[in-house]
Amino acid sequence: MPSPKAPQPPPSTLSTPELIPGLAGIPAAESSISFIDGQEGILAYRGHRIEVLAEHSTFEETTYLLWNACLPTQAELDAFKIELTAHYHLPDELLAALRALPAGGHPMAALQAMMPMLRMVSPVCNLKDPVSRHETSLRVLAAMPILIAAFERVRRGKEIIAPDPELSVAGNFLWCLNGEKPDAIEERILDCALVLHAEHTMNASTFACRVVASTETDAYTAVSGAVGTLFGPLHGGANERVLEQLEAIGGAENAQAWFQAQVAKKAKVMGMGHRVYKTKDPRARALQLLAKELFEARGTTELYATALELEKIAAEVFGARGIWPNVDFFSGIVYQKLGIPTDVFTPIFALARTAGWLAHWREQMRDNKLFRPGQIYTGVHDATWVPIEDR
Ligand code: CMC
Repeated sequence: MPSPKAPQPPPSTLSTPELIPGLAGIPAAESSISFIDGQEGILAYRGHRIEVLAEHSTFEETTYLLWNACLPTQAELDAFKIELTAHYHLPDELLAALRALPAGGHPMAALQAMMPMLRMVSPVCNLKDPVSRHETSLRVLAAMPILIAAFERVRRGKEIIAPDPELSVAGNFLWCLNGEKPDAIEERILDCALVLHAEHTMNASTFACRVVASTETDAYTAVSGAVGTLFGPLHGGANERVLEQLEAIGGAENAQAWFQAQVAKKAKVMGMGHRVYKTKDPRARALQLLAKELFEARGTTELYATALELEKIAAEVFGARGIWPNVDFFSGIVYQKLGIPTDVFTPIFALARTAGWLAHWREQMRDNKLFRPGQIYTGVHDATWVPIEDR
């Protein structure tokens, strides 16, 4: 049997560029949306430090900031909220499609599937028109919490709850999920978590969103691609895994033995490490403060104690290697305390990050260039065609 020739140098006189695995550190765009200093543990949206936004801003105001590159006046923020809540009502045919989804499917798969369906019931977006782009952004963002909550209820055989335009995005999500008005602490804590997850420079899902956007497609399609990308356990899916991990440890007293076993088998500790941060993720610091506040108000949990112990033990071994808790380390513990099911954690990340994805979609649309990177070919050249009966 004839064998293909061994890999040959490409038939080009150009020198082969070096491959950077995972494109680590390679700029993929110019962007003014957010900034990270991974050594110092700094994250800022449009120049505003995340700690300041977590303390003083709301998800709606942060979204306005991300999309418009400036903080709104009170009148602008009020008008923005009215624009957003005007899209809370979803057409019946969309909800009928949601009811038909397999109830055993993961909520992230459901969310991803609903984006093209939302497109099918929405006016066509004129990509060249900033007003149309803004209207589409509002539609996508407004639908997110309602779709996530509706799928969660439908799969449990419950009625879908109609959204309440008087509530914030965070409050409305909890209302649509539970059918009870959230109290002030619950609403504020979820709102703050949304602010912390809203944007994070050129992470995998944002990159995916920009790649899809660069083909000059609409926000539904770009966000659908981003939702699928966020799902993986190395990205947004880690928050779900962190909770499973803490449950598997089975108590703070077991954390040391569990951690040593992980290190011995070179297994990853979920919720730790980051491509960019080589110190503690500033979002993890902020979420830890939220967790503290929530547990002081509502009573602590064993999982929280286990997480604190695991963080302490891991710091001794991982600290010198720049592996520290990331945003996912504390988020699941907070969401669980708010009564949210584990597989809805990553959809909440998606809801928050939709604000950032859409900021990037808008930025990409303003000055688009199709993404079409190169590759380093490692296959054969000039392979010989052998008829099927002779192989
Ligand atoms: N536990 C144990 N070892 C780790 C971890 C961890 N969580 N993270 C990195 N390392 C080690 C890894 O084993 C490797 O060691 P060696 O050089 O001996 O082979 C080294 O550090 C580099 O790891 P890497 O995975 O090649 O580095 P990366 O820059 O691709 O890592 C990461 C980024 C997030 C994929 C990784 O830290 C990880 O898998 N963490 C666990 C999953 C997780 O928590 N993901 C959420 C990320 S933050 C939320 C988000 O933005 O999506």
